[in-house]
Amino acid sequence: MSRTAVVAYSGGLDTSCAIAWLKEDWYGFDEVVAVMVDVGQVYDVEESLVRGRAAGADDIILLDRKDAFAGDQCAKAIRTNALYEGKYPLVSALSRPVIAQAVAEIAVELGAEAVVHGCTGKGNDQLRFELAFKAHYPGVRVIAPLRDRIWTRDEEIEYALGKGIPVVATQASPFSIDENLFGRAIEAGVLEDPWNAPPEEPYAMTQDPATAPAPSEVVLGFRQGVPVSLDGDPLPLAELIARLNHLAGAYGIGRLDMIENRAVGIKSREVYEAPAALTLILAHSALEDVILTKDEARIKRGLEQRWTELVYEGLWFSPAREAIDAFVDKTQEYVTGDVRVELRPNAAVVTGRRSEFMLYAEQLASYGTGETFPHEAAEGFIRISALETELAAARARAQSRA
Ligand code: ARG
Repeated sequence: MSRTAVVAYSGGLDTSCAIAWLKEDWYGFDEVVAVMVDVGQVYDVEESLVRGRAAGADDIILLDRKDAFAGDQCAKAIRTNALYEGKYPLVSALSRPVIAQAVAEIAVELGAEAVVHGCTGKGNDQLRFELAFKAHYPGVRVIAPLRDRIWTRDEEIEYALGKGIPVVATQASPFSIDENLFGRAIEAGVLEDPWNAPPEEPYAMTQDPATAPAPSEVVLGFRQGVPVSLDGDPLPLAELIARLNHLAGAYGIGRLDMIENRAVGIKSREVYEAPAALTLILAHSALEDVILTKDEARIKRGLEQRWTELVYEGLWFSPAREAIDAFVDKTQEYVTGDVRVELRPNAAVVTGRRSEFMLYAEQLASYGTGETFPHEAAEGFIRISALETELAAARARAQSRA
């Protein structure tokens, strides 16, 4: 029986070498099928196909999952205001379940022996891929060639050239970059020393804020917590995100330089650019501010953090994530309205919000005439609220005298 492996193929050097190596004696597969999933990354399809074929792939399957990725993972992340450690909008963590599910489904169809990813043993992505593989192809053998053998960049390039796999100049880049519609993650190279300022070179989604145009405004429309329009134009979410990446990226908005705690127990220095993701989360949470009740907002904040940690640690396909989604769904019922955001160099700033469902009531909050707040009731409210404080203070006084 012929032995088949299905590879999550990015078109890059790592996974191209993996394809070639899977056919060597060490693994000895007869058939290697590469699956490329488009989640909005910028890549050269032709070049990737050429490289995959040169590496020995018997078949290369291209899947466009941009809309599914936007409609499911990105929409949920925005509704959940998902920022890992308060900063990182989960860019890579969100795409992995989509890619891995697609790969696993094809592997099931082909009755493949193994599914393969190009992650190393030091990162979070191996968790995300493998948990998602196992969720969609129970019992499958998972292979991680870049974990089975530690390759240096130079060894990889030499191996690739030896196999006749074309290596382009960009692949000699010292940075490790992962990209999708929701942003770009950049690591390694000079960034490994946390004292080194990030150079301008690896950025692609954002411009240097020093060259930003004059400030401008965008109005973002939301329906039940999901972004649905930009300056009044209704847009599919994938397109809205792409356009906002472009608009906000021109101001350098969405650049992040952080040290983050990986699931595997190490701290790593990561540079991100996620102009639309960060602008949308900012705007979404500003809209929630005028719509959610105090307790909805407080409970949601704690669950947002748990959701983000689950997804970061590879548990997209988990009952806990789904249960939090059910809570979030309920809270988003009325999160419909507009948020005005000013784009400035380095910053997106919310300057207005409006909704037909606001709990914010101007006649209650106003310091002007015509306000309707029941002042006389405040006195009784405070008398009762203070009872416990007074008892505790009396007890403390009695103790200090004793
Ligand atoms: N640290 C980020 C995460 O775990 C990004 C990982 C991928 N980054 C990369 N440059 N390959 O989600």
